[in-house]
Amino acid sequence: MKTITFIGNGNMAFSIAEGLKENYKIEVVGRDSKKLDAFEQKLGLHVKKSLLNNFSIDKKSIVLCVKPANVEEVSAKLQGNAQVLYSVLAGTSIEKLKSNFNASAVVRAMPNLAASVGKSMTTLTGDIAYKEEALALFSSIGTIRWLGSEKEINIATALAGSGPAYLALIAEAFTDGAVKQGLKREDAMAIMRGLFNGFGTLIQEIHPALLKDGVMSPGGTTAAGYSALEQGNVRSACIEAIEKAYKKAVEL
Ligand SMILES: NC(=O)c1ccc[n+]([C@@H]2O[C@H](COP(=O)([O-])OP(=O)(O)OC[C@H]3O[C@@H](n4cnc5c(N)ncnc54)[C@H](OP(=O)(O)O)[C@@H]3O)[C@@H](O)[C@H]2O)c1
Repeated sequence: MKTITFIGNGNMAFSIAEGLKENYKIEVVGRDSKKLDAFEQKLGLHVKKSLLNNFSIDKKSIVLCVKPANVEEVSAKLQGNAQVLYSVLAGTSIEKLKSNFNASAVVRAMPNLAASVGKSMTTLTGDIAYKEEALALFSSIGTIRWLGSEKEINIATALAGSGPAYLALIAEAFTDGAVKQGLKREDAMAIMRGLFNGFGTLIQEIHPALLKDGVMSPGGTTAAGYSALEQGNVRSACIEAIEKAYKKAVEL
């Protein structure tokens, strides 16, 4: 079995290791041996654990899972030249990774919050020679999509990275609307969750416009509600949200 070495033992490292543990040997590198023990215990199988200081990444496949602000501090503690470095660090360019870490190849991956439930929407870009391996690794935490450039991964970050927050706003607002009309809060919450669950499956197969047409009958309730959303400029607010988030991702 091939070994994958995680640098960092936080939430993202755990989610990915959880997805990989059946098919790869897991090695984890961190700065606190108690946290490394806790990582191993939570994962429920033996992993090789090492402290960060003077750790050799030589010829290893590394998944970098620390915070973007830790890049300089962490890279200064490592030795050797990794075969490939997969980075999940938000907003950290391939150029910055290459200037800090010795690695023959670099791939950036951008997972989202749903990684913790094995349903991340992860976008990737970088050294094309590692495309297939990168897609195989990150498919263990959900859906993957390889993109041709870092510009595109920044746009995708605005869509899939920030997306859970945007959909949470919609979920909360619709629930509040139902409560306003007299539905009990717990009923409204349960119905909203069921709605998102079914919608999540439908949208995999049906184009959004056709889905809408399928629900909206002439002069009916959906048409009445839908026109309120259009009057509230929801569509243009969504388009602008992606623009603002993308510009912010480029700025960072
Ligand atoms: N969580 C998400 O949904 C998500 C989505 C997309 C991208 N990401 C990216 O994933 C990366 C990790 O996020 P996370 O959610 O896993 O964060 P996390 O749970 O806070 O884990 C961060 C890890 O970095 C280590 N660390 C922090 N400061 C350090 C330092 N000065 N030196 C060495 N190690 C240090 C921590 O070590 P200790 O345990 O010892 O503190 C911990 O292992 C971030 O770069 C983030 O941009 C996360």
